[in-house]
Amino acid sequence: MNTIFKYFLYGFLVILGVQSVKAQQNIPRQRFSLDENWKFHLGHATNPKKDFNYGTARLFAKTAENYGTALRPDFDDSAWENINLPHDWVAGLPFQYTPNGDVMSHGYKPVGGLYPENSIGWYRKSFDMSGVKDTTSRVVLTFDGVFRNSEVWVNNFYCGSHFSGYTGFSYDITDFIRYDRENIIVVRIDATKYEGWFYEGAGIYRHVWLNLFDNLHFSENGIFVYANLNSDFSEALLTIQTETENQYDIPKECSIITRIYNQQGKQVAQTEEESISLESGEKATLKKQLTIDKPQLWDLDTPHLYKAVSIIQSGNKIIDRVETRFGIRDLYVDVDKGLFLNGKNIKIKGVCCHQDHAGVGSALPDYLQYYRIGLLKEMGVNAYRPAHNPPTPELLDACDSLGMLVLDETRLMNSGKEYMAQFETFVLRDRNHPSVYMWSIGNEEEVYQSIIEGKRIALSMMRKLKQLDPTRVATYGANVGNVITGVNEVIPIRGFNYNLYGVDDYRLSRPDQPIFGSEVGSTVTTRGIYTKDTVNYYLTDFDENYPPWASTAEQWWTMAADRDWFMGGFVWTGFDYRGEPTPFQWPNINSHFGIMDMCGFPKNIYYYYQSWWTDKDVLHIAPHWNWKGREGEKIKVWVNSNAETVELFLNGKSLGKKEMPRNRHLEWDVRYKPGKLKAIAVKKGRKFEKTVETTAEPYQVVLTPSKTTLLADGKDAVVVNVAVVDKKGYEIPDANELIRFSVAGDAKIIGVGNGDPSSHEPDKCADSAWQRSLFNGKCQLILLAGTTDNQIILKASSDNIYQGEIIITQKK
Ligand code: GAL
Repeated sequence: MNTIFKYFLYGFLVILGVQSVKAQQNIPRQRFSLDENWKFHLGHATNPKKDFNYGTARLFAKTAENYGTALRPDFDDSAWENINLPHDWVAGLPFQYTPNGDVMSHGYKPVGGLYPENSIGWYRKSFDMSGVKDTTSRVVLTFDGVFRNSEVWVNNFYCGSHFSGYTGFSYDITDFIRYDRENIIVVRIDATKYEGWFYEGAGIYRHVWLNLFDNLHFSENGIFVYANLNSDFSEALLTIQTETENQYDIPKECSIITRIYNQQGKQVAQTEEESISLESGEKATLKKQLTIDKPQLWDLDTPHLYKAVSIIQSGNKIIDRVETRFGIRDLYVDVDKGLFLNGKNIKIKGVCCHQDHAGVGSALPDYLQYYRIGLLKEMGVNAYRPAHNPPTPELLDACDSLGMLVLDETRLMNSGKEYMAQFETFVLRDRNHPSVYMWSIGNEEEVYQSIIEGKRIALSMMRKLKQLDPTRVATYGANVGNVITGVNEVIPIRGFNYNLYGVDDYRLSRPDQPIFGSEVGSTVTTRGIYTKDTVNYYLTDFDENYPPWASTAEQWWTMAADRDWFMGGFVWTGFDYRGEPTPFQWPNINSHFGIMDMCGFPKNIYYYYQSWWTDKDVLHIAPHWNWKGREGEKIKVWVNSNAETVELFLNGKSLGKKEMPRNRHLEWDVRYKPGKLKAIAVKKGRKFEKTVETTAEPYQVVLTPSKTTLLADGKDAVVVNVAVVDKKGYEIPDANELIRFSVAGDAKIIGVGNGDPSSHEPDKCADSAWQRSLFNGKCQLILLAGTTDNQIILKASSDNIYQGEIIITQKK
């Protein structure tokens, strides 16, 4: 093709939104993001006409017919919406009251079996492969997660279907690719059935990749690196397992080598080179061991990471090259003392979390994973349980990088073919992550958890686990007390979901089995609310209300802290999530369980945990001190702190000094007078103080970004928290103003939220009309990067007060 024509064609394809895959020469394996420039349209679950004839066309009679459907490459999708991934179409649907338990538990969004018009999603994407010279290589399309029941076609060829909304999947599309014309991927998603009982969203809500590699290659997730440390941790024995596959039609010979690099990029070891021959279609697994002297350990505070670079070589040519990030750490569980990480006994200070966030539903930019894990670490959390499904890979990357243990969980416990396949995919995908310290094979399978079937299924899953990952054990979230039959009989580590009244008896019954709380606590609170509100269905923001099966934070943590053998637990939940509005229903659309709200704004209980889970100087007073009209009335004041004593003052007058009981909080009844409520704490002879002050009229909107630079990659994001302040600059805790946003520059807002469990304001707005009300003083927006060097100016205004403005620098 002549060069001018080529550029012309390229420009034309860019205008059409056709991605050009440009493979570089001599790079053995390449991965391209296919997140950009998709077309999206809703289909229909019961009306084939509105579903692009899916239900009536001949789709499976012959390969690649599909006449009259949106599967045809020449189908005109110009009227479809332009979107980028990750994408959750449910986040943009309105809230809708439906008296149905599943709709309620999914956050009152009109999706699922009752809403055929909103539950089928169609996605189309074009890409051009003329920039790929080596047409002998394999072409593999990988989806990290699609909710759910997806079917994929490439250039009219059916690739397969994937049932799970939470495990990733790949299709080898080598045979279907065109190098001379554009290629079209079409995905049809059927979200009429839920998987969980919490908000799940719908769509291609994780990343999509195109992988190019040689016919002779490492298998997908075929590399496994793990370490065993000697007793003083001065030496690590690494095991490196590689699976190599020959997809040529002829036998092949090659050699395999793995080099190990430390976090500073220095090579610290390499395996012996080993030659292998593979027949056509054959796979071979090699296991190599090597030692690393004075390894840098992966720990919660210093999460050192290593990289294994595995290479397939033939003569001098590198045929395949795969990088595997891993960590070296020592983990064991003592039945009397609990968990030890690198020789140090640690109590699990964990949280369970679902995967959605305000504004974006389940389609989180990667940055948000780091943001959320960062917030949890700040609070003192050391372990995360992705409930109740395999998380997105970037969540685990964030936990590896920031130092957070993960109790990694499969979607449901079943040893039938489909769920065992999901379990296998999940373990193979996640087993190299140092953060993953234990597998959870299931949660609250109430029908059979305590009977023989439960025991058998658990045994089958653990047998599989032994093959895939001999380094970790399994647990299970059982919502029973002192019951030793079924899963509990055989599971190596007993997980208690609530029912802690049974824990001491259970310990007597099973003194050989380590015990922890797989779900604990779960006080229900609404951020910034101090009186129960039965119109909006708000709960007080104190550690006092909890469902009948649960407990307060103080109840479970004092119990855990008193028992060395109790390994700690995972609070239900770290953040509020859409759905499960327990103990209420509509108008609530999200849960009250979070220690932080949907936006990650701390509720008061946050400071309870931070007091006893960190060494920081914590001193926190609740409520705020704006009680106009309640002068002279007694106001209940809670103080959370880890100091030894706290003295409270109102407008300079002491209200008494109290000793802080360990793992508890302090309370005062204070007759309201506007002014300053101040606490002075003493800890190890040191004083520190905190004041809450009655605020004046709103004066200005203030924007606080989580960072001031953005990477111009079209994927980076910044979280911007919004508040209003009075003239003195004090944040107004009960402000509920409507705030309007505008962005100048190459970035865009992708979602807004405020943590109000009864807010039915949209999380997604039209590009020129972004707005959100403050809820008890706060709201939030998420800004997604563009692709050019740019100064982004974000403005926030509200009636009758000064607008706020920030500048974010965006750089390539
Ligand atoms: C548990 C369950 C969680 C959540 C929680 C709410 O029983 O495992 O997923 O539903 O209850 O209290």
